[in-house]
Amino acid sequence: MDRVRVGIVGLGNISELNVPGYLEHPYCDVVAMCDTRPERARAVARSWGVPKVYGSLDDLLADDEVDAVEILTPTYLHAEHVISAARAKKHVSCQKPIATTVADARAMVSACAEAGVAFRVTENCCYYPPLERMREVIASGVIGTPTLLRIKTVVGETESAFQSAQDPEGYVWRFDARSPGGHLFDDVMHKYAMALWLVGEEVRSVQAIVRKGRLFFEAPMVALLEYGRDDLLGMMEVAHAPGMFIESDWFGADEFFEVQGTDGFVWVTRLSGRLHDLPPLVVVSGRTRTEVRDIEDRYEVSFRRAAGAFVDGLRAGTPVDLAPETAVRTLQLAFAVYESSNERRPVDPSELEGSVSPPWWPKTTDELMDDVMALGLMPEASALPGTDG
Ligand SMILES: NC(=O)c1ccc[n+]([C@@H]2O[C@H](COP(=O)([O-])OP(=O)(O)OC[C@H]3O[C@@H](n4cnc5c(N)ncnc54)[C@H](O)[C@@H]3O)[C@@H](O)[C@H]2O)c1
Repeated sequence: MDRVRVGIVGLGNISELNVPGYLEHPYCDVVAMCDTRPERARAVARSWGVPKVYGSLDDLLADDEVDAVEILTPTYLHAEHVISAARAKKHVSCQKPIATTVADARAMVSACAEAGVAFRVTENCCYYPPLERMREVIASGVIGTPTLLRIKTVVGETESAFQSAQDPEGYVWRFDARSPGGHLFDDVMHKYAMALWLVGEEVRSVQAIVRKGRLFFEAPMVALLEYGRDDLLGMMEVAHAPGMFIESDWFGADEFFEVQGTDGFVWVTRLSGRLHDLPPLVVVSGRTRTEVRDIEDRYEVSFRRAAGAFVDGLRAGTPVDLAPETAVRTLQLAFAVYESSNERRPVDPSELEGSVSPPWWPKTTDELMDDVMALGLMPEASALPGTDG
């Protein structure tokens, strides 16, 4: 395939970050878009110069000029949309999380394999240059044998134009029973993916404590990860700090990634937010400390590069980057965190085939209103604290 003709499915909040990478790729044509809100679709298509707009996925899938689709619809629709696209013989890129149950995720992988189409689940963090470099540093052996991974996420307040422009509709399905969980099932899915991808090791057991937080937050949360290799452990931490300001052009979340090895460590000090006045990447190896400042660290670049990788993979005819099986394991890890906390025991993620939710999920409207009042927020998403879904 010389040029890749892409159809975008779902033009909600995240499309602003996801679509530009397709629009600007020299060998990609965004030929069509579809959304069940046709006015929104028409307005977006006009601004991006996309010729065709459809009001249903079926109509877009019937278009022979579409080779591949980028699925940006709410997570609870991913299974239905990916399977339909596969049956229509379209190559598929789909946003994380892959699905709301492991069984659905497996059905999606099978449908794409049976149809002979490419399927990847977009994890933009894999294309964030500091994290990509971090993984290379680990694989190179510069820090020795990795022994400890730590990923901290804190969500606070931000004032980005992007956050203020978030459409409240995009939060409704995240807060109700259509999602099996809240923030840990949404934004933290990226960090679960990184816990697997950075060190290239399976997690064989999880011990976690998840507390009920305000709104859809599940914080504080701490999870201990036991990897397949005995001498490697991981720790994930999530906090909600509604009174803390996080400078960001996007979501009000701050991340800190650390992998300690026998000879040194490597840090990535940001992702969406810029809370610390620290270099994006720091590597300590033996007696040498390297601060890497001349590295592209804009969050939006990770989305552009993710889109580009999908197009490049299709053009090259090689398996597209990011095997969907990894997204299935990431989903199992997310459910293992809930299961371990619910049952107060270590959980092997590979045993989980359905879905798991926290006991309080979903919250009632009254509970959510109490949270809104307690946080002093107006009940519009524009006033909600930053969430990097
Ligand atoms: N990589 C990231 O950092 C990141 C960030 C945010 C969201 N996401 C993921 O992207 C997906 C979308 O999130 P969002 O925040 O943009 O949600 P959203 O609700 O803002 O947007 C979804 C869009 O899909 C449209 N839609 C709904 N049903 C449809 C259908 N049947 N056919 C066509 N269009 C339909 C809606 O009208 C809406 O415009 C989710 O899976 C989310 O987890 C990823």
